[in-house]
Amino acid sequence: MQDAIRKLQREAERIASKHPLPEFYTRFKAQAALARRLFYSHPGVVRLRQAVEPLFHEELGHGLYHSSRVSIDCAALLCIETDSDRMKPIAVERLMTIGIYSGLLHDICRDTENHAEIGATEAERILCDFHISKNEIACICNAIRNHEAFLPPKPTSRRWMQLASDCLYDADKFRWGADTFTHTLWHMVDHKGLSPHDLLASFPWGMSGTLRIKETFRTQTGRQYGPEIIDTGVEIGKEIYRHLLKNFRENTRDSDHAG
Ligand SMILES: [Fe+2]
Ligand SMILES: [Fe+2]
Repeated sequence: MQDAIRKLQREAERIASKHPLPEFYTRFKAQAALARRLFYSHPGVVRLRQAVEPLFHEELGHGLYHSSRVSIDCAALLCIETDSDRMKPIAVERLMTIGIYSGLLHDICRDTENHAEIGATEAERILCDFHISKNEIACICNAIRNHEAFLPPKPTSRRWMQLASDCLYDADKFRWGADTFTHTLWHMVDHKGLSPHDLLASFPWGMSGTLRIKETFRTQTGRQYGPEIIDTGVEIGKEIYRHLLKNFRENTRDSDHAG
């Protein structure tokens, strides 16, 4: 990563650390703890993590860090959303595990066009080797197909499949909050070879997309807690924008005059 971009990422992390955690992460600690336990100790999940690690695209900001956070939030959301369903704990855990598989696999084809569709096909091929039923594979692939922002999802008739799809979407879009500015943005900027000046020019346009995502959450929990997660990111983004203006707009003027 370019030095200037790494420094900006450090500054973004410093700014983000001053912001309180959004309520989703303080209110649902028990569900998140269960999701993390499954993520780190379920044998199928551990095996899948090892299998897909070489396929991750860290340079695009959509590698193991992103996929792990999506997986854990997706499983936590499934636990929260099924709370009133009277499902047996073992069935809830199974659904949470399906959510984790979806999270781990959803961006494995991130560098291809139509990555959700292509990723779903690739996920199906990988999952053939795992102890997962055909219905569960269909559920994971459907969730992956439906995870892109600003595209209408294809509805399914089974509630648990619909829920897995909606939870994957919301967990992925939670990343448009603070994670954009502590992680994803800098990997994308570096990968595209952009300078801080380029970033400054495109920043307002990027922020408008972030704001639009607030209206798209699909689960009840996502609709209730997602906007605050995005707003936290927006506040962090505003501070980074001011930092960029202060440090790079003036440099641009200096260099304009220097010629
Ligand atoms: Fe994606
Ligand atoms: Fe993603």
